[in-house]
Amino acid sequence: MLKNEVYKLLIKNKGSYLSGQQIADKLNVSRTAVWKVINSLKEDGFDIRSKTNMGYYIFEESNLINKIILEKEMLTDCLGKNIIILDSIDSTNNYLKEKADVLPDGTLVIAKKQTGGKGRFGRKFESPEGTGLYMSVLIKSGKYNLNFITILSAVAVHRAIFEVCKIKTQIKWVNDIHYNGKKLCGILTEATIEGETGNINNIILGIGINTGKWNELPEYLEKIITTLEDISCKKISQNKLCAEVLKNIEMLLNDISCENGIHNLLNEYKENLNVFNKNITVVFGKNRVNGYIKDITETGALMVIDNENKEHIINSGEIIFE
Ligand code: BTN
Repeated sequence: MLKNEVYKLLIKNKGSYLSGQQIADKLNVSRTAVWKVINSLKEDGFDIRSKTNMGYYIFEESNLINKIILEKEMLTDCLGKNIIILDSIDSTNNYLKEKADVLPDGTLVIAKKQTGGKGRFGRKFESPEGTGLYMSVLIKSGKYNLNFITILSAVAVHRAIFEVCKIKTQIKWVNDIHYNGKKLCGILTEATIEGETGNINNIILGIGINTGKWNELPEYLEKIITTLEDISCKKISQNKLCAEVLKNIEMLLNDISCENGIHNLLNEYKENLNVFNKNITVVFGKNRVNGYIKDITETGALMVIDNENKEHIINSGEIIFE
C-alpha cells in the first residue's frame, strides 16, 4: 500500500526533509499521488510538516493507535494479523461477539473511544478518546479453559507494561492491573456458545488500559484509577503496548499447551498478585467472606480463610481491601 511506503520513507528520514519528487522517484509514482497520500496521513493524525522547496518532514511517531504503526510493531503469528480500527463503537467486545462467525481467528479490534465500554459485573468502563487503549481479540477455539485465559491475560498485560513502560504493576485477583493500589487496566473475558453442542466456540478477550492523561476525570474515578503517563511522566505508545500485549498473550497460549506451562503461568501470576498478607473481603454474588487469602488453587480460584478459620474456594468475585 502506497500510504505505508510513504510513511516508512518519512520515518527512515526522520529529522530531515524529503522532497515530493524524491519520494515519487523512490516509489515510482507521481508527485500528485505522493501529495494525496501525505494529506491522508495528516488526516490520520501524523504530524507531517511541509516547507516550500524542502519537502516533507515527519515530526514524531504518533503515540495514539494507528494501523500503519501497529502493523509495523506486531510480532505475532496469529493474533493481530487482522486488525480493525474503529473511530467509535459501543464496545469492542460487543463488536467481536456479533461478528465472530465471519471474522478470522486472532482478529484484533481497537476503538479510539467506546460509548458503552463494559466492565465485569455489568459495570461501565469509561472509554474517552485519547486516554486509553481499548482492544478486544478473538480467540476462535474452545480448547482453552476460560479460567486460564483470564489469568494469562493479566500476566500478559503485566509483562507488556513492564516491557514498554518499565513500570512494575501488581495484579489484583482476578485480572485487574494495579499500581500503588490504583487501577491501570481492566480485562473482560467473554465467550460465545455453539447452539447445538453448548460448547464454547469463541473467546473474546477485552482489555482496557489507561494510557494517557484525562482532561476531565469523573469524580468517582479520581481515587481509584491511574494512568501509565501519570506514573511514568512520559508519552506511552499505544501501538507498542498493544503489540506487546498480543505477543505475550500468544506466547502464553502456546506455553499452556506444553507440559509445565500452566504451572509456570500460575507461579508468575501468584508472584505478581497484590492480595496476600492482607485483611480482605471477597464479594461473590450476594455473599461476602471476610478473612485472608491463603493461596490460589490450580484452577485460579481464591482460597480464603475466614475469621472463623473456615476455608472457602471462590471462583469468581471481587476482592475489597479493608
Ligand atoms: C473491568 O474493569 O471490569 C473490565 C474492563 C474491560 C474493558 C475493556 S475495553 C475493551 C473491551 N471492550 C469493552 O467493552 N470492555 C473491554
